Amino acid sequence: MNLADIDRALRQLRLSGIAATLPTRVLQAQASQQPFLETLGQILQDELDRRRTRLNERRFKLSRLDERLTLAEFDWSFNPKVPRAACFELHTLKFIADGGNALIIGKPGTGKSHIAKAIAYEATLQGYRVRYAEADAELARYAVAAADERNETMREFVDTDLLVLDDLFLARRLPEAGAELLQAVVHARYKRRAAIVVTSNRMLEDWGKYLGDNTMATTILDRLMHHAAMLRFEGKSYRMRALAQRIATGPTAEA
Ligand SMILES: Nc1ncnc2c1ncn2[C@@H]1O[C@H](COP(=O)(O)OP(=O)(O)OP(=O)(O)O)[C@@H](O)[C@H]1O
Ligand SMILES: [Mg+2]
Repeated sequence: MNLADIDRALRQLRLSGIAATLPTRVLQAQASQQPFLETLGQILQDELDRRRTRLNERRFKLSRLDERLTLAEFDWSFNPKVPRAACFELHTLKFIADGGNALIIGKPGTGKSHIAKAIAYEATLQGYRVRYAEADAELARYAVAAADERNETMREFVDTDLLVLDDLFLARRLPEAGAELLQAVVHARYKRRAAIVVTSNRMLEDWGKYLGDNTMATTILDRLMHHAAMLRFEGKSYRMRALAQRIATGPTAEA
C-alpha cells in the first residue's frame, strides 16, 4: 500500500483523525527515527483526540447553549456575597449523578446565568446530555407550537441528564400551556431523578403569581427542592458595573 491507498483505507475504516495527521506523523517518524510503537501511539492518540473533539462539539450543539462560559472568567472578588463554595461544588457535577437539583435565586446581574451556563458547559465536556433553555422564551414558544414541536421540546426537556431552566419568570406571567409544561417536566424528571438547574431573580414566594396558580407553584417547588442545593446571589449587578465603566470612559475611549 502506498500513502494514497492507506488514506483510502483509513477513510473506509472511518479513522479520519489518523488520516488527517498521518503525512505529518510519517515525516516526524522519518526525521526522528523514533521506535514504531511511539509513532503508532501518536497516531492512535490523534484519532482519539479528534473523536473527543467531535463528540464535545456534538454535545455542545445538542445542549442549545449559546456560549461556552467557564468559572475561569468569573470575578469572585467583584461580589463577595456570591456563594463561591456552593458554585464550585455544583461544578463538580456530583449533583447530576446523585439526581439532585440546584436553585440559583437572587438579584439581577449577579452572575446566576453565568454560573448555570458554566455548569452546563462543563457537563457537556464530561459527557452528559444537557439541555439549556432560556426558560420563559421556550415555555412561551411551546404554548403556541404545533404538536410535533411540542413533543420534541418535551422529549428534550425530560430525556437529558441535565436540564437548565435559565431566567425563569423573567416575564411577568407564563402562558397556561407553558406553566403546564413546566409542571409536567419537573414531575417527570423528579421521578427519573434527573437533575435540574433553575435560575431566577424572582423570590420563591412569588412563583405562584407568575404561574397564575399557587397550588401548581407548590407542587413544582416541592419536587424541585427535594434534594436541592439553594444558592442565593446577593450584591451588586455586574451589568451595571460594565455600564458604569462604559459611561466613565466615554464612547470615544473605546474606539
Ligand atoms: N462576578 C462576575 N465576574 C465576571 N462576569 C460576571 C460576573 N457576574 C456577572 N458577570 C457577567 O455579567 C453579565 C450578567 O450576568 P448574568 O447574566 O449571569 O446575571 P444574572 O444573575 O443571570 O441576571 P438576571 O437575574 O438579570 O438574569 C454576564 O455577561 C456575566 O457573564
Ligand atoms: Mg440570568
